[in-house]
Amino acid sequence: MSHILVTGGAGFIGANFVLAWLSDKSADGVINVDKLTYAGNRKTLASVDDDPRHVFSQTDICDRAALDELLTTYRPRAVLHFAAESHVDRSIHGPAEFIQTNIVGTFTLLEAVRAYWSGLEDVAKADFRFLHVSTDEVFGSLGPADHQFSETTPYAPNSPYSASKAASDHLVRAYHHTYGLPVLTTNCSNNYGPYHFPEKLIPLMITNALMGKPLPVYGDGQNVRDWLYVRDHCSAIREVLARGRPGETYNVGGWNEKTNLDVVHTLCDLLDQFKPKANGSYRDQITFVKDRPGHDRRYAIDARKLERELGWKPAETFESGLGKTVQWYLDNQPWVEDVMSGEYRNWVAKQYAA
Ligand code: NAD
Ligand code: TYD
Repeated sequence: MSHILVTGGAGFIGANFVLAWLSDKSADGVINVDKLTYAGNRKTLASVDDDPRHVFSQTDICDRAALDELLTTYRPRAVLHFAAESHVDRSIHGPAEFIQTNIVGTFTLLEAVRAYWSGLEDVAKADFRFLHVSTDEVFGSLGPADHQFSETTPYAPNSPYSASKAASDHLVRAYHHTYGLPVLTTNCSNNYGPYHFPEKLIPLMITNALMGKPLPVYGDGQNVRDWLYVRDHCSAIREVLARGRPGETYNVGGWNEKTNLDVVHTLCDLLDQFKPKANGSYRDQITFVKDRPGHDRRYAIDARKLERELGWKPAETFESGLGKTVQWYLDNQPWVEDVMSGEYRNWVAKQYAA
């Protein structure tokens, strides 16, 4: 059987990708390599536990020997690299893990892949792909009138998270330029959807609202993000893997710029509709809290290259995607309760103490 190797496939986007990929019965097998940090969850993958095409390996991408063994055993035709420390607020409290996984881990993976790829015979070598999943945050922050980020926008990362992702992007680029490794990089805007860990804005607001807790909006709530439904990100990655040009980068976005306050209002209105409270609106729970240090003001993606070259467009609007997401959280409370136990409580206590 032909395989792809996915890193971080027990996290939010990686798991959505693996589930979507395996829903096609003719798709290649998946070697799913994940360390299972606080953000990784085997329960998200329960529906593919019995699928013989899914092989899960609890492995750290900093473990070169383990990576070598997985690559030589399964001989994947592509590596898709999702694994990362991904939360900006955590990177402010403790950047060390971000440097380790996002930079050292990506470097270790690139070295293992380079060794494996160098030994392939000519056709397999030419067909091989290393797809690096990155973020729009590497481009820094936009002013209100600035043009969206394009593939040629200079890098200007502002948080330890985005700086570590920028470093990983540069390493991936260098492995193409120096060694000829056939790499592809995607820089995507903020994702939302099922299986999103409730430390990020949208799932945090939904879960806090349902628990009757405050909805903590940072600063004035006017920071802008460009939202994309996670399954649309996954379909873009599939297109780039299949038809992207090695050495190229592709920006992925939903053309959905919203202020944080708009997002929270829309979520409250959806919850008022789907699960009304006995008294008042979920909007009554909104609380303005201290701003994030160095908070980027605006992200926005110009996704025209992906549309022009590969014909990709998002399938969901913000309204349809957000409606599906709120409904998913209402229907999947056991998953939410499971991830909100243990380590999550410590994080909430530390971040929202004041
Ligand atoms: P996530 O935090 O939900 O999941 C990350 C996964 O990586 C987890 O399963 C975790 O266990 C695993 N992991 C962490 N360190 C590891 C290590 N050392 N070795 C192996 N596995 C490890 O993140 P996500 O939101 O799914 O993001 C996935 C990727 O997409 C990241 O590279 C992120 O930078 C990028 N991205 C995310 C967004 C977003 O909005 N979430 C947007 C654009 C790009
Ligand atoms: P987040 O989901 O952490 O993504 P990112 O920082 O990578 O864009 O945050 C999205 C926006 O929501 C960001 O501007 C910070 C803001 N935010 C809040 O206002 N309150 C919160 O509790 C969180 C987690 C985020």
